[in-house]
Amino acid sequence: MSEQASTNVLGISGSLRQESFNTRLLHASGALAPLGMNIDVYEDLAHIPPYNSDNDGENAPQAVENFRAQVRDADALLIATPEYNYSIPGVLKNAIDWLSTGDGGQLLAGKPIAVMGAAPTAFGSVRAQLALRQVFVWTDSKPVVKPEVIVFNAHERFDGDKLVDEGTQDLVRRLLQSLAAKVDEGR
Ligand code: FNR
Repeated sequence: MSEQASTNVLGISGSLRQESFNTRLLHASGALAPLGMNIDVYEDLAHIPPYNSDNDGENAPQAVENFRAQVRDADALLIATPEYNYSIPGVLKNAIDWLSTGDGGQLLAGKPIAVMGAAPTAFGSVRAQLALRQVFVWTDSKPVVKPEVIVFNAHERFDGDKLVDEGTQDLVRRLLQSLAAKVDEGR
């Protein structure tokens, strides 16, 4: 019997706030992952400084080096993004910029990436997700296309930290299965 390869996913939330729906969604994902998939959540987004190419390469800040190492080691990324002013929150876009440079090793090239997002509004981060997908064209990444996980009215889908909405659970489950398939394609 062949041994099933494990898949290590790094989860990144685009929100820094304590009660973030997106961070809660990310933490809930672990229990919905297919067999063999492990999801670690990146916790230090607040420590990534603004991108400056003068400080890239050998001078890259320690927080960036640590972040890059975690991304390099991950088989895939799972990003949960809020929508700020119809687009990607600045902190998330900034972190992605640090991953995309030649000095940083173009860590997103060929990387399977799943995108999801939550908002208490009726549009559930859909425009931010679209903007993220545009970024992943330039970075030559391998984004999962379907299912789209657009968690609108997010305040109705959680009970405290627990994701209780079964429709959302099912969508996340299917997203992670598609992500696992994308990783397997590259093996
Ligand atoms: C928002 N919010 C928001 N919502 C939305 O659906 N479309 C938008 O364009 C915006 N714009 C926006 C800008 C800024 C600066 C803030 C702080 C908020 C509301 C947003 O969806 C809400 O705060 C979410 O709860 C943010 O996600 P987290 O922090 O819960 O993960």
